[in-house]
Amino acid sequence: MHSYNLIAPAKINLYLEIIGDRPDGYHELVMILQSIDLADEIELHSISDEIIRVHCNHPQVPTDKTNLVYRAAELMAKKFPEALAKHGGVDITVKKHIPVAAGLAGGSTNAAAVLVGIDLLWNLGLTQIEIEELGAMLGSDVPFCVAGGTVIATGRGEQLSPLPSLDHIYIVLAKYRSLEVSTAWAYKTYRQEFGNFYIRDTDNLAARAAAVHSGAIVKAILAKDTIAIAQKLHNDLEKVVLPAYPQVLQLRELFASQPDVIGTMMSGSGPSVFALCQSQQQAEQVKLQVRQAIPDEDLELFVTQTITHGIQIIRN
Ligand code: C5P
Repeated sequence: MHSYNLIAPAKINLYLEIIGDRPDGYHELVMILQSIDLADEIELHSISDEIIRVHCNHPQVPTDKTNLVYRAAELMAKKFPEALAKHGGVDITVKKHIPVAAGLAGGSTNAAAVLVGIDLLWNLGLTQIEIEELGAMLGSDVPFCVAGGTVIATGRGEQLSPLPSLDHIYIVLAKYRSLEVSTAWAYKTYRQEFGNFYIRDTDNLAARAAAVHSGAIVKAILAKDTIAIAQKLHNDLEKVVLPAYPQVLQLRELFASQPDVIGTMMSGSGPSVFALCQSQQQAEQVKLQVRQAIPDEDLELFVTQTITHGIQIIRN
């Protein structure tokens, strides 16, 4: 019997541009994804029965087949039936710290940890690329979560091109516990409102993706110029989520009004909003100011920072 403990970090989107439709019904995207040190803990144990069991400390997280963690383990069992027969099933415990349904890839990073952990439990010796390919079958953000860091993601979000790592940029993160935004709803609404402006031909799609690769925010990341990065944050999904969720808009405006905030944006399809600061002290100060302005207990606030890695093994 073996066991592994893994750390599964969340991500924020420094950039999210929707450039067109895809034949598979998804959207063609250009994103810059960034790992942060807010993370869940995943514990994996081999069990003799050939079954998958999931436990989670968070009441909102299902432990059945609808959980991406369960589906990640099920995918491994389906792909590697001999390993399942030899090593037995898996018992998975998820200790949640990342807010749920927040645009922070909480479910995706948990699934990535399960793929990495089962590869180890079953001695499969998969490469990072093979694990990322399995991840893409589970969700668009799963491949990124495997190695994390700072990455340009194109296609559905699964085609990854690493950038030099950004560490120690301080972040204040805000999320209303009771507020959830469905990612599918956000993209569908965006298509309804802005679909007429989508780029339709393949050459122009490629040209748009290439333009981001050589654009201002990537230049700022290459130069490690935190202020320029903060000024170039972008997320197309804000155009549909902010008007529909006044509380998210209010947070976004409150962050923008803080003198110590150098840039603010919604992450992914929301509803979490983040603010970049130049020091931990300033980030703590901003957190305090926001807490005073919105003393609602439903509002969760975190001070976190950018990190250079994805899934990490802490013990076995
Ligand atoms: O891939 P994932 O399951 O995370 O995506 C959730 C939903 O977000 C999809 O069902 C789809 O509606 C939308 N989506 C999209 N284009 C992408 C990624 C996600 O339209 N590139």
